[in-house]
Amino acid sequence: MKILVTGGLGFIGTNFVKMLLGKYKDYKIVVLDKLTYAANKIMLNEFKNFSNFKFIKGDIANYEFLEKVFRKEKFDYVINFAAETSVDKSFTFQNEFVSSNVLGVVNLAMLCLKYKVKRLHQVSTDEVYGDLELDSKKKFKEDSPFNPKNPYALSKAQAEEYLLMFHKLNGLNVTISRSTNNFGMYQASDKLIPLVINRALNKMEVPVYGDGKNVRDWIFVLDHCKALDLILFNGKDGEVYNIGADEFHSNINLVKFILKKLKRSEKLIEFVKDRKVNDKKYALDFSKITNELGYRKDYDFEYALDLTIDYYKSR
Ligand SMILES: NC(=O)c1ccc[n+]([C@@H]2O[C@H](COP(=O)([O-])OP(=O)(O)OC[C@H]3O[C@@H](n4cnc5c(N)ncnc54)[C@H](O)[C@@H]3O)[C@@H](O)[C@H]2O)c1
Repeated sequence: MKILVTGGLGFIGTNFVKMLLGKYKDYKIVVLDKLTYAANKIMLNEFKNFSNFKFIKGDIANYEFLEKVFRKEKFDYVINFAAETSVDKSFTFQNEFVSSNVLGVVNLAMLCLKYKVKRLHQVSTDEVYGDLELDSKKKFKEDSPFNPKNPYALSKAQAEEYLLMFHKLNGLNVTISRSTNNFGMYQASDKLIPLVINRALNKMEVPVYGDGKNVRDWIFVLDHCKALDLILFNGKDGEVYNIGADEFHSNINLVKFILKKLKRSEKLIEFVKDRKVNDKKYALDFSKITNELGYRKDYDFEYALDLTIDYYKSR
């Protein structure tokens, strides 16, 4: 069995590859990554110790290069994490988001069809649904309409539409997952939780957008990886699965909680001008993956946050 993990050196990809290497010792794991600022290049030193691991540097938006890889390697499964993921950056560099997040995915779909890959799994996001009012009790279901509010979310929604079209018209075996906000080890330092931990440790101001009341559902990255493993190998062809954690925290409460854990004063908090658009709240109904694939999260939120803090402290 040979699995291609695109974007496998990013935050979630790194955790997923670590899980695969530990769990499926007889599978060949090929990571293809462009090595952007978000990639954990240092992890190559650890992964290279596994004889079933191979790394290829490259861009999924480059079809000719990608085809050479597919022709040579003959993958059984492909899981795509590769993407530009910074919402802030997406307001300015829209072209990079279309290139990696849309064209790259179309390239993968074309090649998975051509080389008869058993399954392409696309790692997507709850941001495709847009947001909810802060006091809303509603949760998005897999058939809720798309309503992306920023160029990152738009690019992820477009990729999904292409994939479902490939499934309907060409019979591509595809699955899609939409997860809520992840936290954990190996995340780039511009994202909220590592940013807060690192700045607080260094007694620097901790920036919070707007009034900080925006609510996110936080899933520990290893629970997300567990769900992806289930979907990749047991999910149903052409299906979409929400992945949530029911751990709702406003940004400001989360920041205060981390500061308390690090024994730092709330005076470090500095409210900064909000994004052009900043989704108010995300909430997912993830009963489908729970009922159909038996998904249950393993990690308690506070315990996982402690693990995360310990990780960033040790770096
Ligand atoms: N982080 C979250 O909270 C979250 C939540 C839901 C969904 N997602 C999705 O999960 C996936 C992974 O997210 P992440 O937070 O690990 O991202 P990340 O930014 O940490 O990592 C992305 C990785 O993809 C690589 N990459 C980018 N463009 C590429 C290209 N064109 N070709 C090859 N490699 C490329 C980068 O070098 C990096 O290693 C993304 O598709 C994202 O949309 C993330």
